[in-house]
Amino acid sequence: PSSALEPAVSKPHPQCNHNTIVTPPSTPTALASTAYQLFEDIRDVYAALTHLPSLAPGPEINALLTRLVDLCIQPYGEAFSKYFFSLQGASSLCESLRPLCGAAEGELERYWAERILGSSSSSSDRYRSAYIHNIDRDVCALKISAALAQRCGYAARMTFSCEEVGGIDESRSPSARDSEEFCVSHMSNWRSFDVVFLAALVGMNSSSKIQMLASLARKLERGTLVVARSAWGVRGVLYPVLELSNDLLDAGYEVLGAVHPWTKVVNSVVVLRV
Ligand SMILES: C[S@@+](CC[C@H](N)C(=O)[O-])C[C@H]1O[C@@H](n2cnc3c(N)ncnc32)[C@H](O)[C@@H]1O
Repeated sequence: PSSALEPAVSKPHPQCNHNTIVTPPSTPTALASTAYQLFEDIRDVYAALTHLPSLAPGPEINALLTRLVDLCIQPYGEAFSKYFFSLQGASSLCESLRPLCGAAEGELERYWAERILGSSSSSSDRYRSAYIHNIDRDVCALKISAALAQRCGYAARMTFSCEEVGGIDESRSPSARDSEEFCVSHMSNWRSFDVVFLAALVGMNSSSKIQMLASLARKLERGTLVVARSAWGVRGVLYPVLELSNDLLDAGYEVLGAVHPWTKVVNSVVVLRV
């Protein structure tokens, strides 16, 4: 029977003929044991997260997510990451884990937004002269962002619209009634943007991200910069990786650069030009 210690696909050995399937060594290597231990640790965090009554910030969830991030940001080598993702069950564990992490992140953002709304201190403005248009399919996120913009004094330079970017998952498109308030006055004028920042969870895997980027490229003016988020190595457990390949060129982009953090920051940043 197969175990999680076995990579999902057995590869032909270079010295054997192509039809020979090589079984994994009966004594696991140090790399295999460490990868399996990491898999179990991540699975334990996932199990604990699924038992929480709420994903809103609190001591228990904070400790679990800190542990998860610490597990994923270690500088494992490339061979290790490759082996880890080839373990049976690793991909499906990541696919179950990411929506939970995304929901918890949303709760964290809501918590801080509400805290800022309730405080008397003023915030610093990093983009003093920029006009910002915030697109989101979640009308609740937009409502709280709009209140925050008002509270922080950006309201004159910020507009909002409730739209599905990329149009891949139409079932999740905002209902007309919900989005009316944000759509009527500020439908997005895609051709007017100089830079588009794409949130990390827009597209839950590389191919859906590229599909969305392709649809975005058709709406944007040539020369527009698109800043997309990605992840490298085992950080890919937490956020989907945007693969840099010819598919991005076919989607209508030039890849200008990628920055991969070695700090506690989880996401990589990829800069593209239409
Ligand atoms: C980290 S938040 C971004 C900040 C948010 N726009 C705000 O108002 O602060 C990520 C957001 O992406 C939105 N999102 C994910 N996929 C999307 C899509 N395909 N189209 C539009 N919004 C999407 C989610 O609803 C979520 O609120």
